[in-house]
Amino acid sequence: MLFKTTEEHEALRARIREFAETELKPQTFMLDQENQFPDDIIKQLGQMGVLGIPYPKEYGGMGLDIISYAIAVEELARVDGGTGVILSAHVSLGAWPIFAYGTEEQKQKYLVPLAKGEKIGAFGLTEPNAGSDAGGTETTAVLEGDHYILNGGKIFITNAGKADTYVIFAVTTPDIGTRGISAFIVEKGWEGFTFGDHYDKMGIRSSVTAELIFNDVKVPKENLLGEEGQGFKIAMSTLDGGRIGIASQALGIAQGAFENALEYSKERVQFGKPICQQQIISFKLADMATKLHTSRLLIYSAADLKEHHEPYGLESAMAKQYASDCCLEIVNDALQIFGGNGYLKGMEVERAYRDAKICTIYEGTNEIQRVVIASHIIGKIAK
Ligand code: CAA
Repeated sequence: MLFKTTEEHEALRARIREFAETELKPQTFMLDQENQFPDDIIKQLGQMGVLGIPYPKEYGGMGLDIISYAIAVEELARVDGGTGVILSAHVSLGAWPIFAYGTEEQKQKYLVPLAKGEKIGAFGLTEPNAGSDAGGTETTAVLEGDHYILNGGKIFITNAGKADTYVIFAVTTPDIGTRGISAFIVEKGWEGFTFGDHYDKMGIRSSVTAELIFNDVKVPKENLLGEEGQGFKIAMSTLDGGRIGIASQALGIAQGAFENALEYSKERVQFGKPICQQQIISFKLADMATKLHTSRLLIYSAADLKEHHEPYGLESAMAKQYASDCCLEIVNDALQIFGGNGYLKGMEVERAYRDAKICTIYEGTNEIQRVVIASHIIGKIAK
């Protein structure tokens, strides 16, 4: 299989790179230091159509393919990892389940403003006792007349508070495991729906992450997404796509660190020549470039399968696990190339080093990605 990007893909990349370099880059140090969400950047991305990149034009999107979406996340994360995940959580986790499982009314009401960039989306699955074991969901939704009454809470939710529209998973039938979980569309501002404090994170500090708290929230019956009991499958299939976004975020963080290290290695002279001409550094750079290339191929392969409505859960788990593991190795090597200079606050490589780590943790830890990969390959052998 050959995954060669088209002229349109590269034109989009150039456009988003230019935007990221001129508009986002000057703010990144402040966003990281102040733990601040880039409101103006997200607004501009909405106006550019980027928040609706893979959704059909009739739903307010740009009508581009999944590789275009991966490129957009990569290019933002190349400059700022936090902005990369804001886009990924909005497109893959907030909007996609509504696109894939929503009724026409739900799509018109919720997907259109998300795709147009007028509203921001988020996804609430994780709970204190349901992290990797997402089926352990404890939040409940009890049907009373025309409403479900939602009680419980979610933790570690990307875009919490900034998002207007939340896809939330809750138990509607207790004691039957994952088949008792349902999905709901919940709006910010509904009575009883509040937020915890914005977490003070190690990295991706421009993205906001907080708890969601549900205290007798009345969710209209028509906001059930899909059917009762279908929620876990909606969550899992949404995460299949979300993992392409996180893989792209990891790739972007790694690509930015690599470019910075490469440039520095050409300028930094030790032992009478630029350090890139020392074999130990040039070999490091060679390995970094190979990891970037292989990560990109895995991501585009998963994106291409998704685009063509073929099964892609295996490939997206591989892409997420591989690209994020490589990202950690690449940022580590990049910082090593910078030496003591890279260890200083304010250096992009220092921020990349901190931003990288989360990519091996969220949207399924890399241990869970291996569970998913193993279940696919062992299933295939067994047939
Ligand atoms: N698509 C559709 N259905 C799926 C599926 C998929 N990818 N994976 C599983 N299912 C279905 C199964 O077919 C099964 O269906 P039946 O009941 O009909 O048999 C059902 O779901 C249960 O499947 P499993 O028995 O495999 O479920 P499990 O409880 O063993 O869990 C798991 C599997 C892969 C470990 C899952 O719990 C998982 O993915 N955990 C990680 C959770 C995660 O990624 N959280 C991320 C939160 S979001 C986030 O991090 C975003 C952010 O901040 C940016």
